[in-house]
Amino acid sequence: MKACHVPLMAALAWAGWLAAAPSGQEPAKKDQARAAAPAKEYVGSDTCAGCHDEIHTNFRKNAHILLETNKRRGWEGKACESCHGPGSVHAETTSADDILSPKKMTPAAIDQMCLACHKNQQTQVGRIQSGHARNSVACTSCHNVHKTGEEASARQFRRPAGVNRNCQGCHMDVWASFQKPHRHPLPEGAMSCTGCHNPHASFLNRNMRLTSGQQPGCFQCHSNKRGPFVFEHAPVRNEPCTICHEPHGSANPRMMIRHEVANLCLECHSNIQSPPRATTAGGVAIATHDLRQPRWRNCTACHQKVHGSNVNGALLR
Ligand code: HEC
Ligand code: HEC
Ligand code: HEC
Ligand code: HEC
Ligand code: HEC
Ligand code: HEC
Ligand code: HEC
Ligand code: HEC
Ligand code: HEC
Ligand code: HEC
Repeated sequence: MKACHVPLMAALAWAGWLAAAPSGQEPAKKDQARAAAPAKEYVGSDTCAGCHDEIHTNFRKNAHILLETNKRRGWEGKACESCHGPGSVHAETTSADDILSPKKMTPAAIDQMCLACHKNQQTQVGRIQSGHARNSVACTSCHNVHKTGEEASARQFRRPAGVNRNCQGCHMDVWASFQKPHRHPLPEGAMSCTGCHNPHASFLNRNMRLTSGQQPGCFQCHSNKRGPFVFEHAPVRNEPCTICHEPHGSANPRMMIRHEVANLCLECHSNIQSPPRATTAGGVAIATHDLRQPRWRNCTACHQKVHGSNVNGALLR
């Protein structure tokens, strides 16, 4: 896990945000209530422990215990209130209305709350714009703060199988695709969705993970396909790999999008205009290619370097 540096200033700014946070009441009533109600103050986690013993005990195993123990983060001794806001009034009244409760907050507000401390992490780049954020999938849909054991957020994502279990809960159709005969080894738990996607966000479509050189994530593991090659195959260079491969798995060998590789090649390398590609995108194969003979239909038997070649312009070797 990467270190999270939360400057004291950010913590203080967050405290200011909390003070101004809406309590869910009508505006007019709220003003009256604010005038009458005593100001909320921080009381410290030990006070919370008096009534929320189990949660307090479990919290010792949570990564956020660092807030409780680390002086530099500005929440020493009052970690509970770093998320739930000042609790003096609630500790008196024990009313659920007097404490910030993420259970009742909108997904956007939850994201704001968590990002007050986590914004500066690399994983969070562009988070607010991601497909998850736009579709009301809050931080707490995937991370839980108070659960323990296998469900604790620090543990559940430690192994690929745990990540897959989380994603599959909402993306059952994608998981079904990984049951096809030709696919990445996700069901075996050797790899996870986050090998290719950043669940938080990305500058690429579909939350695709970037590798260090701002390259799409496939190259992280298949760097031999990256090039540069002396003789590029235009679609490998200019299109996403998915123009030929099915990333979530396929019934076709090598996860190809077509059962016969020749049909895929001929979608671009023929002078017949056929949908879905209305025009011929690649050069036409030379006249020696007699496609009535099966031998010529096994394109990759000769054009072995279909991802690019350093020695042969026709991608033969
Ligand atoms: C004197 C006992 C008492 C103390 C001290 C106390 N609570 Fe509570 N808390 C309760 C009770 C009782 C409930 C359940 C209220 C309900 O369901 O109406 C509750 C509920 C909550 C909830 C859930 C609200 C919801 O929407 O269901 C949160 C969050 C919470 N407390 C946080 C805290 C924090 C943080 C502290 C320390 C600052 C704290 N509590 C201190 C008694 C206490
Ligand atoms: C990192 C933020 C964070 C911290 C720190 C934190 N909580 Fe929570 N708390 C949450 C979230 C988020 C929820 C909503 C339920 C969930 O997602 O687990 C919650 C829910 C609760 C609830 C309601 C539980 C229920 O199921 O009704 C109580 C009570 C509570 N917290 C008390 C505490 C106490 C006591 C502490 C300190 C020991 C604490 N919280 C520290 C984020 C936090
Ligand atoms: C769709 C599920 C999902 C959502 C939503 C989500 N996360 Fe994560 N998060 C993960 C997974 C999975 C990991 C494990 C890292 C990995 O496998 O790349 C992770 C890792 C992390 C880490 C530890 C890794 C690091 O960068 O140090 C932090 C901190 C974190 N998430 C915070 C957040 C915050 C804050 C939000 C809300 C703004 C959020 N997450 C929303 C799934 C999610
Ligand atoms: C007051 C600052 C603060 C807030 C608010 C906060 N966090 Fe954290 N978070 C931390 C710190 C500090 C760590 C420990 C980082 C480390 O170990 O280097 C941490 C660690 C984490 C981790 C990694 C460990 C793990 O359990 O997997 C996740 C995930 C995480 N936080 C999610 C959240 C979520 C979700 C929220 C909102 C409900 C949230 N955080 C709110 C400060 C905060
Ligand atoms: C709580 C439910 C939920 C969980 C858990 C979840 N997702 Fe999502 N995800 C959604 C929703 C809703 C959308 C938006 C609708 C859609 O495109 O299907 C979405 C969209 C996506 C997208 C497309 C994003 C875009 O911008 O088009 C990707 C990729 C994705 N999720 C990956 C993941 C991964 C990886 C995980 C596990 C770490 C995960 N999801 C966990 C609900 C979830
Ligand atoms: C080998 C890399 C890879 C893995 C592993 C992977 N994906 Fe994807 N995923 C992609 C690519 C590439 C796209 C973009 C497809 C496109 O744009 O046509 C995508 C698209 C998506 C989308 C957008 C909608 C769709 O179906 O096209 C969702 C949602 C999604 N993935 C979820 C997941 C989940 C959940 C997992 C884990 C069970 C997962 N992905 C594993 C590469 C991967
Ligand atoms: C985290 C590492 C990783 C990433 C990222 C990754 N792959 Fe793979 N890929 C593998 C592994 C491991 C295998 C070997 C699987 C096996 O032999 O069962 C593989 C195999 C393949 C195969 C051959 C399948 C077969 O049936 O022989 C294709 C095609 C493929 N990957 C395409 C892609 C594409 C396209 C992407 C990006 C969308 C991608 N991979 C991203 C690890 C990865
Ligand atoms: C023009 C179509 C096309 C594009 C684009 C393409 N591939 Fe392939 N790929 C193929 C074909 C055809 C095969 C099968 C070759 C064979 O049967 O010998 C293959 C096989 C593979 C294999 C398994 C065999 C091997 O060489 O390791 C991997 C891995 C792979 N491709 C990854 C990728 C990646 C990553 C990308 C994106 C950079 C990509 N492919 C783009 C057509 C394509
Ligand atoms: C998405 C369209 C597309 C697909 C699918 C595709 N190609 Fe290409 N191919 C191209 C383009 C575009 C060029 C560059 C043509 C040019 O520069 O005139 C090219 C170039 C070539 C060349 C180099 C010869 C030349 O004209 O420069 C060969 C050989 C080739 N492709 C073979 C294949 C084979 C074999 C397959 C199937 C595995 C295949 N292609 C699939 C678009 C495609
Ligand atoms: C028996 C081996 C063989 C098979 C099978 C084969 N080709 Fe070729 N292909 C060649 C040779 C040899 C050349 C000529 C290379 C040269 O003259 O530089 C060539 C040339 C080409 C070219 C033009 C290359 C250029 O430099 O202009 C394209 C495009 C092409 N083939 C596509 C295909 C497609 C698509 C298939 C499958 C339907 C296929 N080939 C099957 C051997 C084969």
